[in-house]
Amino acid sequence: MVEKKRAFITGATGQDGSYLCELLLEKGYQVFGLQRRASLPNTARIDHLYEDTENPDFVMLYGDLADSSNLFRIINKVKPHEIYNLGAQSHVGISFDKAEYTANIDALGPLRLLEIIRNVDFPIRFYQACSSEMFGKVLETPQKETTPFNPQSPYGASKVFAFNVTKQYRTGYGLFASNGILFNHESPRRGVNFVTRKITLGLSRVKLGLQPLLRLGNLDAKRDWGFSKDYVEAIWRILQHKEPGDFVIATGETHTVREFVEEVAHNLDMSLTWKGKGMEERGIDTKTGKTIIEVDPRYFRPNEVDMLLGDSSKARKVLKWKPKVTFKKLAALMTEEDFAYAEREAILHNTIANQRKFMSYGLQNGKNSSQRKTRRAKN
Ligand code: NAP
Ligand code: GDD
Repeated sequence: MVEKKRAFITGATGQDGSYLCELLLEKGYQVFGLQRRASLPNTARIDHLYEDTENPDFVMLYGDLADSSNLFRIINKVKPHEIYNLGAQSHVGISFDKAEYTANIDALGPLRLLEIIRNVDFPIRFYQACSSEMFGKVLETPQKETTPFNPQSPYGASKVFAFNVTKQYRTGYGLFASNGILFNHESPRRGVNFVTRKITLGLSRVKLGLQPLLRLGNLDAKRDWGFSKDYVEAIWRILQHKEPGDFVIATGETHTVREFVEEVAHNLDMSLTWKGKGMEERGIDTKTGKTIIEVDPRYFRPNEVDMLLGDSSKARKVLKWKPKVTFKKLAALMTEEDFAYAEREAILHNTIANQRKFMSYGLQNGKNSSQRKTRRAKN
């Protein structure tokens, strides 16, 4: 019998990790995912892979990128053919508040893995999840593999460290270690505090009357947004290539946050106009005259990355990869899922409100009858 390929994925519970688990299982791999201990379940994105019975090809193991001995024990036991290091504190804004932690996980985490790979006596192909945030305040447009880095956050700086050590272990020790420089990629599984998901869920809730408005930061920031499922296909191709290397993965289109808002509003059949400038700018629903978007200084970052636009010609040529989902399609598919999600929330909300009404009606009745009694007694 042919031995199945074994993959170890850090960040398996995250957006990309969950799609990558699905892809590798479809391809016949045995998949081992790293899971952090949490006080509440953190496996919602992969629970469907277990279904009702245990899947022998899908195993989750407790661990943390801060814990070398734990990582060594797992790698030595699993003996993976491929390691995909997707685990990270991945929120750029939060990296300013959790700078040391971000560096520990996002910069030293990959170093810990590379050290283990260098010291075990079986070959492992290593993928490092790097980021277009490394380009920061861009020194060239569009950004490609040769564009100099200029990171603007503890997150971006940590990913530059990760990029460099991955490259050094490749050239210095001959490891099959590759970097994917991925531009922003989204999906209905995106964390709710990233801007696209915040907009698709937030505007859906506004539409259904579950919240009055949405507060955002910099509406002028431009990003090259793709679809996570397309991007995990590229990640897999990077490790299947005959030689290791560094690859930019991007759509080659850039849009402002404001444009993403407009696209989502259009999908929700809301007519939106902008009034005011800078911090005073507001998005108005022209049908109701209500403000549905406000600018909030809390969502600005100490340093902003104004514009990202990737040139993924190398990946398109060498890996035969190209994205399938466009900006408009991405906004549409995310809006559709989040509107359905918000509708379920609205049903729950109404059920609870009705229960409250029913209970307070009962209480009021009780109160009225006791008041009546009191009155009677008094009278
Ligand atoms: P995500 O949804 O935030 O997932 C991050 C994953 O890392 C989660 O599984 C998380 O576990 C795990 N993690 C966090 N801290 C950890 C630790 N100390 N030890 C072990 N695991 C830890 O991120 P994503 O969007 O899927 O991104 C995947 C990777 O690609 C990240 O490295 C990110 O920096 C990078 N990247 C993402 C994009 C993008 O646009 N999505 C672009 C470029 C690069 P919990 O579920 O327990 O939190
Ligand atoms: N999160 C957030 N929330 N961002 C906002 C908001 C808001 O309310 N309002 C405006 N923005 C702007 C941010 O300032 C940024 O310029 C842009 O929207 C995108 O923000 P995020 O969605 O948080 O993503 P990111 O670009 O900072 O980082 C993502 O992409 C990187 C690749 O370029 C993350 O996935 C990183 O992990 C990834 O490396």
